[in-house]
Amino acid sequence: MLRLLVLHGPNLNLLGTREKSIYGTATLGAVDAAITRFARQEQFDITIRQSNLEGELVTWIQEAKGRFDGIVINPAGYTHTSIAIRDAIVAVAVPTVEVHLSNIHQREEFRHKSFVAGVALAQISGFGPSGYLLALRGLAEHLAAARSKATRTRRPALGRPKARTRSTS
Ligand code: DQA
Repeated sequence: MLRLLVLHGPNLNLLGTREKSIYGTATLGAVDAAITRFARQEQFDITIRQSNLEGELVTWIQEAKGRFDGIVINPAGYTHTSIAIRDAIVAVAVPTVEVHLSNIHQREEFRHKSFVAGVALAQISGFGPSGYLLALRGLAEHLAAARSKATRTRRPALGRPKARTRSTS
């Protein structure tokens, strides 16, 4: 069973009341319930956490090493400022997908820069809460492909079958 960690950054606890025209009306509780339902259906072992503190997010990323197979993170405002979150993702080398509810590339210039994107497996931006489910699906497919490649390369190479010689008698 894949063990996946979902991290929500600052102000995402205010979903449902915060800038509804941008982030929609679903509360974080509703988003997490949809993630949990999807995880159950796909048989993922899922842990979901939210923090308004950069250091707490960094600590959770550090602790993910050896405990989780992959991370889905919406770093929220820290996307555009946090070298510490980027460094933590690089340090643990746990495959990580970046998610944004809104399309950050269509918004203010300062949101176009993500410190996380360069070290993430992928970035999903603009699909609202469905972005988390797409990220989990993509991450699971990536991890399954990586595992089957590892198994194939571990298997001893089969020698080429010997050429048969025809008897002429
Ligand atoms: C966000 C986009 C960020 O620019 C913003 O600071 C957020 C939410 C999103 O999900 O669209 O807090 O990450």
